[in-house]
Amino acid sequence: MNGNDERALRLLHRRQARAQKGDPVALPLTLTSSFHLPGDTQAPFSYARFSNPTLAELEEALSILEEAEALMFPSGMATISAVIFALLAPGDRVLFPADGYYAGRVVLDRFAARFGIEADFCPTAAMGARDPAAYRMVFLETPSNPGLDVCDIAAICARKGRALVVVDNTTATPYLQRPLDLGADLVLASDTKAANGHSDLLAGHIAGRDAGLMAELHAWRSFAGGIPGAFEAWALHRGLQSLEVRLERMCRTAGLVAERLAAHPAVAAVRYPGLASDPSHAIASRQMAAAGFVISFTLADADTAERFIAAAPLTPATSFGGLHSSAERRARWGDDVAEGFIRLSIGCEPAEALWAGLAAALDEAAA
Ligand SMILES: Cc1ncc(COP(=O)(O)O)c(C=O)c1O
Repeated sequence: MNGNDERALRLLHRRQARAQKGDPVALPLTLTSSFHLPGDTQAPFSYARFSNPTLAELEEALSILEEAEALMFPSGMATISAVIFALLAPGDRVLFPADGYYAGRVVLDRFAARFGIEADFCPTAAMGARDPAAYRMVFLETPSNPGLDVCDIAAICARKGRALVVVDNTTATPYLQRPLDLGADLVLASDTKAANGHSDLLAGHIAGRDAGLMAELHAWRSFAGGIPGAFEAWALHRGLQSLEVRLERMCRTAGLVAERLAAHPAVAAVRYPGLASDPSHAIASRQMAAAGFVISFTLADADTAERFIAAAPLTPATSFGGLHSSAERRARWGDDVAEGFIRLSIGCEPAEALWAGLAAALDEAAA
């Protein structure tokens, strides 16, 4: 049994060991802001801004997947803001991806800069050429969204000196890539995406094996006040239980679709770390268990790309990792990509039915 199989098994049977006869099999949803608290304040739960039983169960499930302490936040961006504002101080320098999810750059430029935190932006594929030890924090997003470039986490961590290495693992999830095992100090993710998978909530988590760092992040969450509600925690817990099986279908279909897109005459370029011809392939095959479910590809121009998205069996939405395959033209958000560049997130539809629809839409859009 490999590590992922063992973790998936433990995740699904996690609650069994301490269950009493008559207990519910499904996770109870505890909706309360306060807890019975006579006398001193020492209790498993005291006030819901610190924690809540449903959230604690979700964190236990995530800690099995990450093999590390895990803390939930109300969105992926809340995790990125937490590592910046809870762990950096005036004068600290942070190395951040120039080509990853754009909102982190906004937080650094528009807000963190006011507190004297200096950001240096570098493309993901060039991260390995920088000296990580010259920074207080090195933030990696690999594979990067939306360009799907990768960087070598272990090689960067080996030279990190006193820098904290934080990896945004959203596009990979703990089943496909294990940054803490590769030497990172913290891993974080937007669980809005594949971890939940049902496109019905926002959430994020941070995991780490350094108790001091995790305590500081917990304090930030408790006192800054951004904590997920119990209902989101309950719903994400439900989604997380099927992540392993969804990923298996999504990654297998993505491999097949990427090969076929690469061979299609209407497609100018494809990026997918699973393609042997992809610049990300060598590093991705070393550090990822599978190449993921996001494919980027380029059609002739904006009109062709929009016609394809409209004609295809795809949800036209700005997210990824859901059960439904979805796509969008990233230039519409100002990403530094070609006008016809599409980020395609492969979902759980039967592969051949999905490809038949994609192929027909490509022919129609290019005609
Ligand atoms: C790689 C990556 N990190 C973080 C985020 C932010 O997550 P959220 O939208 O849950 O705040 C996103 C959102 O698209 C993302 O793609």
